[in-house]
Amino acid sequence: MTVREVQDEIIRLKKENDFCILAHSYQTHDILEVADFSGDSYALSKLAKTVPNKNVLMCGVRFMAETVKMLSPEKRVFLSNSIAGCPMAEQMSSDYIRSVKEEYPDHTVVAYINTTAELKTVCDVCVTSSSAVKICSAIDNDKILFIPDCNLGAYVRDKLPGKSFKLLDGGCPVHAAIKREEVIQAKALHPDALFLVHPECVPEVSSLADYVGSTSGIMDFARSSDAGEFIIGTENSILEHLQYECPDKRFYPLSKRLICENMKATTLNDVLDCVRFAGGEEIIMEPELIEAARKCIDKMIEMGG
Ligand code: 13P
Ligand code: SF4
Repeated sequence: MTVREVQDEIIRLKKENDFCILAHSYQTHDILEVADFSGDSYALSKLAKTVPNKNVLMCGVRFMAETVKMLSPEKRVFLSNSIAGCPMAEQMSSDYIRSVKEEYPDHTVVAYINTTAELKTVCDVCVTSSSAVKICSAIDNDKILFIPDCNLGAYVRDKLPGKSFKLLDGGCPVHAAIKREEVIQAKALHPDALFLVHPECVPEVSSLADYVGSTSGIMDFARSSDAGEFIIGTENSILEHLQYECPDKRFYPLSKRLICENMKATTLNDVLDCVRFAGGEEIIMEPELIEAARKCIDKMIEMGG
């Protein structure tokens, strides 16, 4: 089948089988074209509560599908490819965070949404990259234990000088691997381009940016900017989407290494298999785990607006 034929079949089957397809912006363009909604982690979490369909397919990574399941436990929720995890989500165990909390008992525990459901059970509130500053600023405590991403944590800390942050040694292996020298080289090659970056990059990289924000934030900035050229410091799929949307602008990758193999694990054929109930993985979670873990996601949505 051609790509177009596979897409047509997915569109036919998702109606027949009452599926809503959610796709994170790091998915490939052929998948975004058949999705009902695409966006960053925050937008997808908010949508998870409101989609009317009986079945939801999350094209992204495991913590995103778990978030949908926790917010809509009555629905059948599927992850597009069972190998698609986020390595950062697995970096810290709940036992480890319990022991850190004992050392910092007066801190509010803020978890990046890129965490397992198990880890969320020991946290007070979740954040995403687009909601972290707003939520940390609104927390009624000036002491924050921010887990697991120390780079996003450092970005939020620098925006909120009135608060003190305890950061741990975690982060995204894809974004955190990018070096300041790569930014300097990219800027030398494209001196007129604005540099847009995700806050999962290390501070030495983010501090050179014209704009720091979530995947949707970067896309919105590039769409609405009067500038014509951009160096994109996040997963390289964003370049493809932006180039389709803004054919008159030019987008350059900060690094060829900015590829998340987990986000790329899902193919259009996986999506087809999922909407005909022949692939992917249905997310099954114990009701007790859902109840304990979703409190901090509900809090995020309440505080994030
Ligand atoms: P966003 O919150 O920007 O969607 O980022 C999710 C993610 O996994 C970034 O690496
Ligand atoms: Fe996880 Fe990084 Fe991939 Fe995002 S880009 S899903 S944080 S490994």
